[in-house]
Amino acid sequence: MLPSGIEIFALVGLVTVAYIIANIFWDILLAIQAHLIPRLIRRQVDLSAKYGPWAVVTGCTDGVGKAYAFELAKRKMNLVLISRTEEKLQLLAREIESKHAVKTAVITADFSKGQAIAREIELKLKGMQIGILVNNVGKQYTYPMYVGEVPEQELWDIININVGATTLMTRIVLPQMLLRKKGAVVNVSSSSELQPLPLMTVYAATKAYIRSFSEALRVEYQSEGITVQHLSPFFINTKMNAFSHRLQENSLLVPDAPTYAENAIDTLGRVSHSTGYWAHGLQYFFTMIPPVLVRTYVGAVMNHVFRKDYMHNVKPQMSFL
Ligand SMILES: NC(=O)c1ccc[n+]([C@@H]2O[C@H](COP(=O)([O-])OP(=O)(O)OC[C@H]3O[C@@H](n4cnc5c(N)ncnc54)[C@H](OP(=O)(O)O)[C@@H]3O)[C@@H](O)[C@H]2O)c1
Repeated sequence: MLPSGIEIFALVGLVTVAYIIANIFWDILLAIQAHLIPRLIRRQVDLSAKYGPWAVVTGCTDGVGKAYAFELAKRKMNLVLISRTEEKLQLLAREIESKHAVKTAVITADFSKGQAIAREIELKLKGMQIGILVNNVGKQYTYPMYVGEVPEQELWDIININVGATTLMTRIVLPQMLLRKKGAVVNVSSSSELQPLPLMTVYAATKAYIRSFSEALRVEYQSEGITVQHLSPFFINTKMNAFSHRLQENSLLVPDAPTYAENAIDTLGRVSHSTGYWAHGLQYFFTMIPPVLVRTYVGAVMNHVFRKDYMHNVKPQMSFL
């Protein structure tokens, strides 16, 4: 006997509910694995033995990158520091070496120059056992703008820095990781990858690239002993968000960079994707409940608020200077 329309409807409903519940349980399990277990088991993983003695951090002179560099040094990793400002790099290297018993090397590179700088970085990294690559460097709009308003150079820099640097740096370090059959590539994306984000359109699109790149890369190389971790943080209190005073104060949902980095590094080797910070994990869970279209509109509303913050508070101060 064929099932009636009501029976089919009930079955589809049941399967949908079961799917949602299974997803919720899976998210909870991942959250426990990423954030709770590292807190319960205080024993830290020996990153150097697990992946290799050197870590490369791009965009390391400020914000998340700087915090990652300090936290990795605290965990006994030697550091290759890459950023665009030589003086800041030298200062950071000295500060790290004075606080932690690790070696540092600095490379001055402006990732907005694209492929032109790749060979020089490759040469400087030659012979070093790079255990961890943190593809952190990133550029955001100065403030939320319509695409037509963003200066052409700024758009092109965002694409070169956010997409180009991660892609080329990964390609540079992979061969020696493959030889040793170990290593970790950590790609710092953003929660803006979770849906299109009006008024930060190009920034969000570059982060969607990072997600896709990371997920495919992981499948390509996981059998070779390479860990590919992809992080999607929500807001962190750094200069990147100077457009709004709301994002320049530490809170539960807007941690400072050291708090973020400490939490995020704890998740390395435990989960392949994470927001990196437990409270962002909760935000992620609730963000993903509505469909993409709804999230896109909510994102647009949020960015209009930040745009107003910039126009009313930040821009007048800048024109006063
Ligand atoms: N902050 C957030 O709310 C947030 C949220 C989600 C994801 N993220 C992601 O987290 C990563 C770090 O962001 P952040 O907030 O720490 O940024 P940030 O505070 O603006 O720091 C950016 C770092 O990158 C360096 N840098 C900028 N342009 C560069 C270039 N062309 N070449 C080389 N280095 C360059 C800067 O060097 P100088 O010091 O010399 O300028 C600085 O050290 C980015 O990928 C970002 O997309 C941030």
